[in-house]
Amino acid sequence: MLKSSRLVSLISSNKQWGKQVERTVLRTFLSTPISEVSQMDPNIKSYKDLYNFSVERPDVFWKILAKRLEWKQEFTSAVEGDFSTGVKWFVDGKLNASVNCVDRHAVQDPNRTAIIFEKDEPNQHELISYAELKKLVCKYASILRTVGNVKKGDRVAFYLPCGPTAIAMALACTRIGAIHSIVFAGFSAEALASRINDAGATVVVTADIAVRGGRTLELKKIVDEALKLTPSVTTVLVDARDGVKSRVKLQHPRDHFLQDLESEGKGQDVIEYVESNDPLFILYTSGSTGKPKGLVHSTGGYLLYAMTAFENVFQYKLGDKFGCVADIGWITGHSLLMYGPLAFGATTLCFESTPVYPNPGRIGRYWELVERLQLTHFYGAPTAIRLLMKYGDEWVKKYDRSSLKILGSVGEPINHEAWVWYNDVVGEKKCTVVDTWWQTETGCVCLAPLPSAPNDPVLPAMPMRPFYGIKPKLIDPKTDATTGSLEGPLCIEKPWPGMAQSIWNDSGRFQEVYFKDYPPYYFSGDGAICTKDGYWKITGRMDDVINVTGHRLGTAEVECAMGKHALVSETAVVGFPHELKGEGIFAFVVLKEDGKKADRSKIEKELKALCKSQIAGYAIPDYILYNDGLPKTRSGKIMRRILRKIAAGGNVEELGDVSTLADPSVVKSLVKNRQKLS
Ligand code: PRX
Repeated sequence: MLKSSRLVSLISSNKQWGKQVERTVLRTFLSTPISEVSQMDPNIKSYKDLYNFSVERPDVFWKILAKRLEWKQEFTSAVEGDFSTGVKWFVDGKLNASVNCVDRHAVQDPNRTAIIFEKDEPNQHELISYAELKKLVCKYASILRTVGNVKKGDRVAFYLPCGPTAIAMALACTRIGAIHSIVFAGFSAEALASRINDAGATVVVTADIAVRGGRTLELKKIVDEALKLTPSVTTVLVDARDGVKSRVKLQHPRDHFLQDLESEGKGQDVIEYVESNDPLFILYTSGSTGKPKGLVHSTGGYLLYAMTAFENVFQYKLGDKFGCVADIGWITGHSLLMYGPLAFGATTLCFESTPVYPNPGRIGRYWELVERLQLTHFYGAPTAIRLLMKYGDEWVKKYDRSSLKILGSVGEPINHEAWVWYNDVVGEKKCTVVDTWWQTETGCVCLAPLPSAPNDPVLPAMPMRPFYGIKPKLIDPKTDATTGSLEGPLCIEKPWPGMAQSIWNDSGRFQEVYFKDYPPYYFSGDGAICTKDGYWKITGRMDDVINVTGHRLGTAEVECAMGKHALVSETAVVGFPHELKGEGIFAFVVLKEDGKKADRSKIEKELKALCKSQIAGYAIPDYILYNDGLPKTRSGKIMRRILRKIAAGGNVEELGDVSTLADPSVVKSLVKNRQKLS
């Protein structure tokens, strides 16, 4: 049988391989448990057959794969419902996520490393085995139950650095049937409070401080600020970094150091088995309106999809070391740092630091990590790749990267130049580069070059192929065609197990946002191209969501934050192409009469501070342009198309038809003011 690295290079090669190789490769693919599908149907001989089967008979396909999870009670049907009614997966089946992610591996191979924790300071990594992780999960589950009085269905909010505490706590929630809502520990107190309130969380888990890139972040202080606005919270559990308890003051009886709860952590191990469609977690993400959406993911469907996508998209084999450098506060951290790898029984990296720390040697951190930890997979965002590329190849070449087999990219479109550098310099053309497209809503990867048939090439800078069970569809209002160099809104035709079930507290909004634009399909909000050969390429968001350094941000959120300034009359925020960040933030601001006389640089500082305090640091605009008006139609709608062109530096001639504007002269002054900014 071919070794997986060899297999990968065969698959990624353009060469035509003989039938024998194809058969060998297929056997290798089909030797994984997914082969159970081929046993069902002798016509399934290749990846493409398997893919076709998965979209034609999702019920059978996922039913077979569901055997790979441990169920307390068998499900009665694999899938019920459709997009318009809501979809349920593995109905009546009962399972527990922590049992699937920890216990079964701790029984099978207790000493296998579950988590490699790479702390902020290099050379300080810790290895946590499945047996150790199980102990930690049981301890935290007991603390949540006894100290936090957390019961099935309760919500627990997290404001934690990316580390084993966050992972073990999340799994502890699932162990007792509670729903976690992890809030990225870069969000402001306001943003944290609004998420806690929306979810109605009763317990918050945080740390006294976080240390990232050598900088200390006062997490507990931010939580204290947020909790002034959150009546539902009764308990705060605080992880004291390195066991040092003197950095913060606790508020009794609400706050507790986890380190003081050892005896509460020794309570009985109670496992709450939940129905497959019971929520596993809520994760907030930005949409085109101001209020972030709390997407709800199910237990059975999500877990199976994350595990299957993890194994197949990255061709993960036991013994590999998977290096996802995302933060646990985003969906990538949920699905490809935590749930996917752990459900599979993999060894997964948890990275606390940044790619540019520490100094000296700061630009080589990722690759030093690869060398020291012998990572087989590296999964990161194009923003970081573009940044590192700027510093030159020597920072990469300094370190041995021969352990690497697969390089992944996620979160935003990867430009051709960055893809080539990733492939040629980081991977030395020996790795397969997988550009993976997916969203918080989709649960895990939906489009990716792997898995693929052996003779299929991997093309630069596009996610290319749909994953099992995913039937992408481009909408062309004229032809409704799905192939042939078509560009348009990217939809998904049929339900898949990883898809979010709803928006917390707002199922109407869930239907409205995702299923009303192109019924009966799911609309992703992204545009895409499907080439003549049937390969998929993402063109970017089609709604008012922008992607800044791989972070999704609703322009309305930024407008809302700046609108709080007393001297601001109106704002409009758009994205513009940014060499490093992918997209930058461009804010157009109309001041009130009083504001026009005020000190602009002071207002600018205050506006930026508002964005930071209401949302997060990454929401601070790159440019703020003041103007007396905004381009509006006669019915009062802001024409963002025009603002986007102006932000990108377009002149009047490039703006297209402006005749529908209520006041076309606005455009001239906007262009003039834009020129003054650059
Ligand atoms: O616009 C797409 C972009 O990121 C959006 C989803 O953001 P979020 O829910 O935060 O999840 C990010 C991590 C999965 C998408 O709607 N996006 C994600 N991956 C890609 C991408 N755009 C282009 N290519 C990708 N590979």
